[in-house]
Amino acid sequence: MAEPLAQSGAVAGTPTPGEVGPIRTVLVALAVCGVCALVLTGSVVLLRPYQLENQRGSSEARVHELVASLPGVSELVAEIGGAELELRTVELRTGHLAPSVDAMTLLDRSDASEGRLLPPDRDPAGVGRVPRYAPIYLLRRNGTLHTVILPVSGRGYGGTLRGHLALAGDGETVRGINFDEHRETPGVGAEIENPQWQALWRGKRLHDATGALRIRTVERAPAPGSPEAAYEVQGISGATRTSRGVTELLRFWVGPDGFGPFLARLRAGEKA
Ligand SMILES: Cc1cc2nc3c(=O)[nH]c(=O)nc-3n(C[C@H](O)[C@H](O)[C@H](O)COP(=O)(O)O)c2cc1C
Repeated sequence: MAEPLAQSGAVAGTPTPGEVGPIRTVLVALAVCGVCALVLTGSVVLLRPYQLENQRGSSEARVHELVASLPGVSELVAEIGGAELELRTVELRTGHLAPSVDAMTLLDRSDASEGRLLPPDRDPAGVGRVPRYAPIYLLRRNGTLHTVILPVSGRGYGGTLRGHLALAGDGETVRGINFDEHRETPGVGAEIENPQWQALWRGKRLHDATGALRIRTVERAPAPGSPEAAYEVQGISGATRTSRGVTELLRFWVGPDGFGPFLARLRAGEKA
């Protein structure tokens, strides 16, 4: 027989005092969760611009740090005065900037097995492999491209020479070169580190008026004012192989398998 309602202590659908407790707890917990979710979402949305600003700030600081660590480059930056510095990625084959490829990651990565293997007849500098993408520094003054700094490397006498070639925004005039890694003999090939020798490169041009690639080291200093003086630098005495290595690596990296397509764009007046 059915129990009378008065005895069961509940109207159908109405919670009994024993059931009210858990329901309230669940409701309170849901409300707390809802408020927390709102606060969290709100903070993520509100703090995002600050977070992005911080990230930008720390990557700019890292770029400045990196540039300051390249021999001779901080002097160049100081000379330009108020230069804005950018670290960008270039796709070598097309010469286009590749904003979707993080240049900082490329700098951090040093896997020599990556990249396209060069056939020996296209590799006089002993580069071995060329990557698809390369990191470059752009220095602007008042928004105009003033200098591009390109990483260069190639075979020297004692091992691989690694350094940078700084070119004016015209993609043609040398602003400087440096070598921050090599295994050349002190007093002989290691003179590539000598700022006086490096200074000889300033103002040299890569090509002549016909477009022929002319930059190179030579045994004897070109006569001042001669047509050759625009492109040639006297090599280091007693270090023929190091000097030849410098010629080959510069010519390779400004050529078609290196930054040639990118530099051609600059020479054609395209904006980087
Ligand atoms: C101990 C020693 C260290 C040398 N270091 C270098 C060097 O750093 N760079 C270089 O080009 N040649 C160096 N040379 C000289 C080369 O062996 C070579 O004679 C010179 O580069 C000329 O090369 P070539 O005969 O092909 O013209 C060194 C020679 C000796 C004995």
